[in-house]
Amino acid sequence: MTTATAMTRNSEPRTPNPEPLVQLREVTKVYGHGDTAVRAVDQINLQACPGELVLILGPSGAGKTTLLSLIGGLLHPTSGSIQIAGTELTALSPAALSRFRLQQLGFVFQFFQLLSALTALENVELVLRLGGCTFSQARQRAEELLVRFGLGHRLQHLPRMLSGGEQQRVALARALALQPPVVIADEPTGSLDSHSGEQVIHLLRQLVDEEHRTVIVASHDLRIQHVASRVFRCGDGHLEELPMPQSEL
Ligand SMILES: Nc1ncnc2c1ncn2[C@@H]1O[C@H](COP(=O)(O)OP(=O)(O)OP(=O)(O)O)[C@@H](O)[C@H]1O
Ligand SMILES: [Mg+2]
Repeated sequence: MTTATAMTRNSEPRTPNPEPLVQLREVTKVYGHGDTAVRAVDQINLQACPGELVLILGPSGAGKTTLLSLIGGLLHPTSGSIQIAGTELTALSPAALSRFRLQQLGFVFQFFQLLSALTALENVELVLRLGGCTFSQARQRAEELLVRFGLGHRLQHLPRMLSGGEQQRVALARALALQPPVVIADEPTGSLDSHSGEQVIHLLRQLVDEEHRTVIVASHDLRIQHVASRVFRCGDGHLEELPMPQSEL
């Protein structure tokens, strides 16, 4: 599969790094068996390079969450190869896969999935502690990230005391805490109001522009097209690359 030249928001042509960080070859995921089997992902090829924001659009049931879960090592494919930073995920033991996910992949979900008994600060600190930081390192890094995302005044709040947009920014801080090169976001604006959604979209784009990360987003939110490097339509388990919107050219 060839990689199209990505366009930035500023319409500057940008040649992607030739080394893809995410590489899927002929990946298939079938749920169930026999008559009730569902081929949610069907022989998909996809690659994404550092500094690219790849958007996957598609209707409900198209296979978007399944695809992101495969890329993120949360699901094992029925067949095919999934490489992240040159490591074949399908060859890792469960323990090695958990370690790999912690260091290399950051996840953002539609409903945030923060730990409800922990404050905003503690939610981010926890990942840092799991990643081997000392208590003081974890506290400092967590605070820095939350301040950067405009949450310096919400450090001690529990998730239920935060708005949806604030919770999603905590989730983003948590996903980025260990500086993973790949960030996967499943409907990250799906439960946010318009303004909060725009803030999250802006933060995702910053990750690509300023930190050169690879961001893969599944969404129904057409606004994300305007910050995407490449856009795919997912349907019946297949991916089709779409031309970039006219406004980007
Ligand atoms: N655990 C599962 N067991 C069986 N079938 C499943 C499972 N998870 C998903 N499916 C099926 O796989 C297909 C793709 O589901 P998936 O959740 O990936 O879609 P999606 O594009 O993320 O949809 P949505 O936009 O509603 O989130 C659907 O037909 C769904 O019913
Ligand atoms: Mg989904």
